[in-house]
Amino acid sequence: MFEEGQYFAPVNTDADGTVVVELGENHPGFADAEYRERRNALAALALDWEPGEPVPTASYTDDEHEVWRLVSAELAVKHRELAAREYLEGTERLALPGDHIPQLAEVSEALEPLTGFSYRPAAGLVPLRDFYGVLGEGKFYATQYIRHHSVPFYTPEPDVVHEVIGHANALASPRFAALYRAAGDAARRVHSEDALEFVSRVFWFTLEFGVMSEPDGLKAYGAGIMSSYGEIDEFRGMTIMPLDLATMGTIDYDITQYQDKLFDAGSMDQLEDVVGEFWATCDDDAIERIKVEAVP
Ligand SMILES: [Fe+2]
Repeated sequence: MFEEGQYFAPVNTDADGTVVVELGENHPGFADAEYRERRNALAALALDWEPGEPVPTASYTDDEHEVWRLVSAELAVKHRELAAREYLEGTERLALPGDHIPQLAEVSEALEPLTGFSYRPAAGLVPLRDFYGVLGEGKFYATQYIRHHSVPFYTPEPDVVHEVIGHANALASPRFAALYRAAGDAARRVHSEDALEFVSRVFWFTLEFGVMSEPDGLKAYGAGIMSSYGEIDEFRGMTIMPLDLATMGTIDYDITQYQDKLFDAGSMDQLEDVVGEFWATCDDDAIERIKVEAVP
């Protein structure tokens, strides 16, 4: 029952320097030569980009802007009912456009005065050390392509809808932005791959797929839920567990399915006390101790 996953299409560079995004046969854009051409061009732009340069402008078709119009309007309705209050305050502060896909530069311009965050272009999957390495400095790597227009409410990979509607609305909140930075600082502080993986899993179950109880019910704040037209309707029916670092940092998850185990932060305060404090102070030894304690 998965509609929307987190799988990135691989990006390869041929011997002659041509950048190719390898869409799978089941990808809705697989047989659309024009779409694939633009995906390749966007990936090439991101690969050519150097820190300090402006984010390259992505070209979008009218059909793609229409996808954004449809999806952002539908998600906004769902957010009003199902998004955590702090996330909703972020959406109000950021006021993303509903009539066109914003360029990442445009999103950065709106975000920087709010929390200091700005976007960087990514061709596809960004290695953990690179992604988290700059998060502590208020930089967020994001893809620029949008899902194929034939199926506006489905995407097999994180696209600009996820990166911007899911993440930028949270990054517009000073409290969430501080948590993103803390995750980045933690990732820089740890040395072993295991510890980095642990930090990243805690990020996955909070800032990507986190939920929290509010007086009028369970709400979501994770970008993966907030950007998914299907998943946002399903999260309340999943197995909801209390916030627990050892469990979040060690249980397996499948990025191509709806997340069936979610962690209830309880409140923004508790999220900051437990997860924010963990990221602010953890090192390899502390993570090892948490893992040992997790073993029954
Ligand atoms: Fe994400």
